[in-house]
Amino acid sequence: MSFVVEMLRIRKEFPGIVANDDITLQVKQGEIHALLGENGAGKSTLMSILFGLYQPDGGEIRIRGKQVEISNPNVANDLGIGMVHQHFKLVHNFTITENIILGIEPKRGLVVDKKAASAKIRELSEKYGLNVDPDAKIEDVSVGMQQRVEILKMLYRNADVLIFDEPTSVLTPQEIQELMKIMRNLIAEGKSIILITHKLKEIKAIADRCTVIRRGRLIGTVDVAETSEARMAEMMVGREVNFQVVKAPAKPGKVVLAVENLSVLNNRKVLGLKDFSLEVRAGEIVGVAGVDGNGQVELVEAITGMRRAESGKIMLNGKDITEASVRSRIKAGIAHIPEDRHKHGLILDYSMEDNIALKVYDEPPYSSRGLLNRNEIRRYAQTVIEEFDVRSGQGAISVARSLSGGNQQKAIVGRELAQNPELLIAVQPTRGLDVGAIEYIHRRLVEQRDKGKAVLLVSLELDEILSVSDRIAVINNGELVGIVQADETDENEIGLMMAGVKRGDIR
Ligand SMILES: Nc1ncnc2c1ncn2[C@@H]1O[C@H](COP(=O)(O)OP(=O)(O)OP(=O)(O)O)[C@@H](O)[C@H]1O
Ligand SMILES: [Mg+2]
Repeated sequence: MSFVVEMLRIRKEFPGIVANDDITLQVKQGEIHALLGENGAGKSTLMSILFGLYQPDGGEIRIRGKQVEISNPNVANDLGIGMVHQHFKLVHNFTITENIILGIEPKRGLVVDKKAASAKIRELSEKYGLNVDPDAKIEDVSVGMQQRVEILKMLYRNADVLIFDEPTSVLTPQEIQELMKIMRNLIAEGKSIILITHKLKEIKAIADRCTVIRRGRLIGTVDVAETSEARMAEMMVGREVNFQVVKAPAKPGKVVLAVENLSVLNNRKVLGLKDFSLEVRAGEIVGVAGVDGNGQVELVEAITGMRRAESGKIMLNGKDITEASVRSRIKAGIAHIPEDRHKHGLILDYSMEDNIALKVYDEPPYSSRGLLNRNEIRRYAQTVIEEFDVRSGQGAISVARSLSGGNQQKAIVGRELAQNPELLIAVQPTRGLDVGAIEYIHRRLVEQRDKGKAVLLVSLELDEILSVSDRIAVINNGELVGIVQADETDENEIGLMMAGVKRGDIR
């Protein structure tokens, strides 16, 4: 048996937590090996050790049978190991070529030979079907393209062990299909892949074997073809997981949010949302389904006050809030789980307690006469942390940056729900969450509804839209295609509507 990577009894501790507790992972040459585990299980940590970002406290690593010490990422590169991180690390105002050669610029005499680099990048891009333009700037390309740049960065450095840390959580369904194709191309060329993902369907579709860890410990390694999704989920969370959302029929009440003929400009200064109307009532969950970039961002940002309305009206509980400030909308009862948890969700260098208190710190009992009441803030944060099972080494005083991706997300969801808002706008609320946490968040959304609150759910995951929503509004090219009852439709119909086909044309 030839293993290309062997991580044996790896141990890594952080203050207050053992992130990796004697984990063993063995990857065969030429396989796609999935690494599965709940949020905070220690997956990113284990891979950061393999990539030389962290030093293990115990255990040993062998690459192609030889024991090695990976003291930094350059050593990993020299050993043929590359990594695409959970959050990309690209320089936005650099071109794709400049990003890829960063740190290893090819020189001709004293000048950097960008031409040679971009030719090599073009060649690699063609060979693996990556479809990348070496001269484009990062800030102008899609997230899916940025990820392919990260892949090229590894290939440019001749990596043959490729680590992908949750590559699909930021991609659209179409981009996911493309990535799977690219992975198959990579394997066909003799590369080996370690894939971290929470999506069991993806593991089933593409991985050969799967190693499962739970709370820093190895549970086991299984053959994917012989193991059901349910079994893998159970290994991972230690109990059976219910994939179905259980809910009674909605009892919609008064209109909480009314969007009337709303038009909003997008970043390119043309109308990204056009004459859009939608109502969300108390006691119902309205899902917005659409292909990424069809006006969802403009809709959400207009409702939350982060973007101006060109025309039309936004009413909250009968009050016109079209011109209201962000802060006053929050105070009026709008909560928002944002799409990008790093840009709008958390202040990464703040502690968890300060992040969780962000929306309430200026109210009693959290402050009085302009002074913060630290004890109350901590108590509040601790209840949210406990209720939403936000795991970290040091609880309320952990710095947000040190939390695992999924636990950062759980903290945001917890903070927003803890306000008990009149209207919750949830954008991709379960992105990056493990199946157990998804089940929990879905249950909380339904609970919010059953308390008579209004919920607007925006998601690219059709499964999520279909199972959680009561009504579904389909958006295409900034326009409302139609609104359907969730229990009277299916994936096919919504899929067609997402492509712009009106319901009357289908039936
Ligand atoms: N630099 C750090 N300092 C302190 N604690 C850390 C650090 N990095 C990770 N941790 C902690 O180690 C544990 C494992 O984190 P890790 O990021 O490896 O989880 P994960 O399995 O990748 O989870 P997710 O699916 O949410 O991304 C978490 O409890 C996290 O808070
Ligand atoms: Mg992670």
